[in-house]
Amino acid sequence: MNDPDTLPENIVLIGFMGCGKSTVGRELQHRLGYELVDMDHEIEQRAGKPITAIFEDVGEPAFREMETAVLKDLARETQRQRIISTGGGVVGREENRALLRRMGYVVWLAAPVEVILDRTAKSRTRPLLHTEDPATKIQHLMVEREPLYQETAHFKLDTAGLDSKELATGILECARYFFSHCDR
Ligand code: S3P
Repeated sequence: MNDPDTLPENIVLIGFMGCGKSTVGRELQHRLGYELVDMDHEIEQRAGKPITAIFEDVGEPAFREMETAVLKDLARETQRQRIISTGGGVVGREENRALLRRMGYVVWLAAPVEVILDRTAKSRTRPLLHTEDPATKIQHLMVEREPLYQETAHFKLDTAGLDSKELATGILECARYFFSHCDR
C-alpha cells in the first residue's frame, strides 16, 4: 500500500547494519517528540537476553520468528506518531515488507559497503558479522538485500557525507511533504 491517505503517521527506518538507524531515530525522536521504538531492543526485552545470545542459543531462524512477531504486534497497535527503528535483516521476509509499508513512511538509510564495514568493525553485537571475512559477508548481504530495501521504502536517503542532524532534517522535510498529501 503506497497511499499516504491511509498510512499512519509513523516514520519507519530501514537499512543495513551500521547505516545509522538508531542514531537518526534518536535525533528524530528529539526533534519531533515522538516515541522511539527500537525493534532489536524490543526483541531483547521479550527474549530476556541480548541479540548475540539469541543467535547463539536458538539460531537465526528463531530470531527471525521473534522479529516478525514484534513487527506484527507493532503493526496492530493503533498508537501513532512513532519512530520505528528496525533491524537490518527485517526486509528478508515478504510478510515483513508488506507490514512495514503499512506502518508508516518507510525511509531507507543507504550507505556504501566501505562505510558499513568501517562502522561495524568494532561491533560485538552483530552476530552475522562474527565471521573471518566480514567484508565479503556484508557485500553478499547487500546484494541480497538492496532490492528488498528498495521495494519496501517510500524514500531512499543516501547517508554518505551527512551527519545524523542533516539526515533527520532531510527525513522530516520529506515526511512532512508525504503526509501533507494525506487527507486525515
Ligand atoms: C541484523 C541486524 C541487526 C540485528 C541482528 C540481525 C541483520 O540490527 O537485528 O543482528 O540481519 O542485518 P541492526 O541493523 O540494528 O544492526
